[in-house]
Amino acid sequence: MSKKIEIINGPNLNLLGKREPDIYGKSTLEDINKDLSSYAKKIGLDVSFFQSNIEGEIVNQIQQSEKSDGIIINAAAFTHTSVAILDALKSLSIPKIEVHISNIYKREEFRHKSLISQTVNGVICGFGINSYKLALEGIKNILDGN
Ligand code: DQA
Repeated sequence: MSKKIEIINGPNLNLLGKREPDIYGKSTLEDINKDLSSYAKKIGLDVSFFQSNIEGEIVNQIQQSEKSDGIIINAAAFTHTSVAILDALKSLSIPKIEVHISNIYKREEFRHKSLISQTVNGVICGFGINSYKLALEGIKNILDGN
């Protein structure tokens, strides 16, 4: 049976496609998720998606992800501020990958600090929307024991 991966996106990522396209590209979140679904299938993973602009809803979703085999999260602006999301991620014993579309280290200084990196298996950032695919590859490798 395919392993289940939960992909969580945080605030303002529902606006992908029209939000600062020079930084985040022209694809919508729907486009990205469609593409990820078929890519996941190809590599033997089963993905589900969640997006919220609300910190508490993201915490609830992370708590419910314990039943999944892995989690990929772009916490967006909450990456830099949320102890609640860090603590929720810490409570999970499944593999976790942090993703960013942009290279946060090439941007404003306040984006250089991620509160959640300390609890994830790996961080992928700066590859545009391909960051999500690379995260799927990464989590697949972890689950396969490579
Ligand atoms: C982001 C980077 C964050 O700094 C920003 O607040 C986002 C998106 C990214 O994917 O590049 O909303 O997580």
